[in-house]
Amino acid sequence: MGKKTTVGIAILGHGTVGSEVLRLMGEYSEDLTHRIGGELEIKGVAVSDLDKHKDSPAAHLMTTDAMSLINREDVDIVVEVIGGIDYPRQLVLAALKAGKSVVTANKALVAAHAAELAEAADEANVDLYYEAAVAAAIPVIGPLRRSLAGDRVKSVMGIVNGTTNFILDAMDSTGASYDDMLAEATRLGYAEADPTADVEGYDAASKAAILATLAFHTRVTADDVYREGISKITAADINAAKNAGHTIKLLAICERVGDTVSARVHPTLIPRDHPLASVNKSFNAIFVEAEAAGRLMFYGNGAGGAPTASAVLGDLVGAARNKVHGGRAPGESTYANLKIADFGDVSTRYHVDMDVHDQLGVLARIAEQFSNAGISLRTVRQEEKGENARLIVVTHHAYERDLAGVVEKLKSMDEVKSVNSVIRLESE
Ligand code: NDP
Ligand code: HSE
Repeated sequence: MGKKTTVGIAILGHGTVGSEVLRLMGEYSEDLTHRIGGELEIKGVAVSDLDKHKDSPAAHLMTTDAMSLINREDVDIVVEVIGGIDYPRQLVLAALKAGKSVVTANKALVAAHAAELAEAADEANVDLYYEAAVAAAIPVIGPLRRSLAGDRVKSVMGIVNGTTNFILDAMDSTGASYDDMLAEATRLGYAEADPTADVEGYDAASKAAILATLAFHTRVTADDVYREGISKITAADINAAKNAGHTIKLLAICERVGDTVSARVHPTLIPRDHPLASVNKSFNAIFVEAEAAGRLMFYGNGAGGAPTASAVLGDLVGAARNKVHGGRAPGESTYANLKIADFGDVSTRYHVDMDVHDQLGVLARIAEQFSNAGISLRTVRQEEKGENARLIVVTHHAYERDLAGVVEKLKSMDEVKSVNSVIRLESE
C-alpha cells in the first residue's frame, strides 16, 4: 500500500449524486491531483440501465455489472451512490473485503449495517467514509469523528431532512395543508415519487442513528431510534403553533440520558426565536453541544446533486490521499457501548390538542389527569367555544411513559371528544 501515483475509482450509480460526482471530478481534476498528490482515474461507472445513459459523455465507462467493476485489479476506491440497503450492502462488503476503500452517501445502509461494514474495513485495513450520508454538504461527520474526538458530546439536535423541512416551512408560511405542500415538494423535485422515507422520518432516523453512534461512541442503529413522521401534521396544528409563538420542525434529537443514549425523530414545536426556527426551505442545521467546546451549529445544503457530491469528493480526496501516501482515516469508535434509553424514560415538554365538550368543570377534570400522573401544566388555552371547543395544554417536562398514560385516559373521558395531536416541545 502507499506511493501510488494513479488511484483507480469505480463509481456505482449515475443518478442525482453520481452524475454530479463525475462532473465535478472532471471539472476539478487538476486541483484534485495537487491535493491528493496523485491522479484520480475513473475505471468505470455502474448503472442499472445502459440505454438511459447512452448519450452521456461517460457512456463508454458504463456497465450494469457493478460487482465485476469493483473486483477489477485497477480499482482502488469504490464510490457507492446507488441507494437502498441489500444490494449496496453486498457491493460495499465485497469492495472492502477486496481491499478497496469505500465512500458512500447511503445513510440507510450505514445506519442499518455500520458494525458489519466497519469490521470489514478494519480487517482489510481500508477506509470507509460517509460524510454525505448525513446532511449532504454539511460537514458534521468529520467534526464528530475527528475535531470533537477529545471532547464529551452531550447532545446532537437538528433538522436533517430537507424534504420535510420544505413541507413544514411551506405549511407555516402559506397556511396550506400537508397534502398540498407535499404535492408542491414533489413538483419542485424535493420529494421523491415515493416520499415515505422522508415524510415518515425513516431518512432522518437513519441520520440520527449515525450521528448518535459517532457522538456517543456507541453503536446506534436506525431501529434504536424512536420515529414519528410529519404526515399527520395538519394546518390546524401549524396554526395553533403560530398562535402560541411556535413553529413545527421535524427534529432529530440525540442525547445522553444518564448512562444511556436516546435518539428520536419527531415533529417538534420550537419557539419562533429559536435558531432552528429560521432554518427554512430545504436547508438543514445541526447543533452539537459538547462539554468543553460548548455549542456548535452546522448549517447548509442537506440535499441535492452538487452539495452531496461536494461531501463525496471530500471523502474521495481523503481516501485517495491514503492510497497515495499510506495511512488510514480514523475508524469506528464504539467503546463506550452505552445502552439505548427506554423511550419511556425520555423527558420533554408536550403540547396536547383536544376537542372537548364546553361544560363547567371540564378543564378541572382534564387538569386532574395530568396532576394525577405528576405532570405539571405550563399553560391551558381554550381556542374556540361551544360545539367547537378546543383545549390546548402545554406541560412542563414530563416522562414519555407518564404522558402516554395520560393521553390514554384523556381519550376515554366523556368530556374529551378527541385528542387531535400530541406534539413534543423543545426550547433553548
Ligand atoms: P438516484 O436514484 O438518482 O440514482 C441512483 C443510481 O443508481 C442510478 O444511476 C441508477 O442507475 C443506479 N442503480 C440503481 N440500481 C442499480 C444497480 N442494481 N446496479 C448499478 N446501478 C444501479 O439516487 P441519488 O443519486 O439521489 O442517491 C444516491 C445515494 O445518495 C442514496 O443512498 C441517497 O440516499 C444518497 N443521498 C442522496 C442525496 C440527494 O440529495 N439525492 C443527498 C444525500 C445522500 P440508472 O441511472 O440506470 O437508473
Ligand atoms: N431525501 C433527503 C432529504 C436527501 O430530503 O433531506 C438528503 O439525504
